[in-house]
Amino acid sequence: MRVDLVTLFPELFQGFLTTSFVGQAVTSGTLDVAFASPRDHGLGKHRAVDDTPYGGGSGMVFRVDVLVACLEAQDAVRGGRGHRILLSPQGKPFHQTDARRLAQLPALTFVCGRYEGFDERLSGYVDEELSLGDFVMTGGEVAAMAMIEAVARLLPGVLGNAHSTVEESHSEEGLLEYPQYTRPQEFRGATVPAILSTGDHAKIAAWRAEESRRRTAERRPDMYARWYEETGRALEAAAAARAKKKARRSRTKAGRSPEATEATSPTTPGESES
Ligand SMILES: C[S@@+](CC[C@H](N)C(=O)[O-])C[C@H]1O[C@@H](n2cnc3c(N)ncnc32)[C@H](O)[C@@H]1O
Repeated sequence: MRVDLVTLFPELFQGFLTTSFVGQAVTSGTLDVAFASPRDHGLGKHRAVDDTPYGGGSGMVFRVDVLVACLEAQDAVRGGRGHRILLSPQGKPFHQTDARRLAQLPALTFVCGRYEGFDERLSGYVDEELSLGDFVMTGGEVAAMAMIEAVARLLPGVLGNAHSTVEESHSEEGLLEYPQYTRPQEFRGATVPAILSTGDHAKIAAWRAEESRRRTAERRPDMYARWYEETGRALEAAAAARAKKKARRSRTKAGRSPEATEATSPTTPGESES
């Protein structure tokens, strides 16, 4: 994946792009990262990239002409236009669904703001505005790093175990991950749940699924409500249907015909118990 970073402070990315799995992704060529400096397109002797706001007010505003010149020059150098993301506290909050969506694209261009933000007309030259969350930082660089990391770990071959991006919080299932434990088995009186040492994989999977739902309902009722609407209700209906079928089968085995069982079943809608 090609990643272009429009920033006044490329040095902020140095450790990030040379360390751990992102560093390996850069070394292996999975991530092809390049920087573009708005300063190279700045105006006058001081290569100014900002100016005072129309209408007055404190601070400076990033100029649209400088940034568009920088974006277009970068696309020319790189041989094509990347998907342009403007980092802004006013953008759509970045979620795992965005990481999955962006991981499918061949080229991303992150535009890191500074000052009091951008000239509003820049929005006509980007594909979307994304926010890291409901707080304000002094620049977009940290937000760009967070998003690149979330996207890069989803690219094929970047993480050793691809399965770990499937079974985790905010994965496509839409729940938080179940609690994890490792050695020691007992720490200051707190023990690992016994089920995890039984070796019974089906029971462990069922326990984890239940814990994942319980934890999501407790910590993120908003997520749980969404999951329940999309998946949980259907799972419950399927479980109820299975239980009903099982009960019917055991009654049939006990010597009653399925028709007789059906006619007297208290769970059949519209039938009385008498
Ligand atoms: C001080 S902020 C500008 C805030 C702007 N005056 C406002 O009130 O919306 C400077 C730059 O930092 C970046 N930034 C700050 N907070 C951010 C966030 N939560 N998510 C993404 N980028 C952010 C943006 O690029 C922004 O243009």
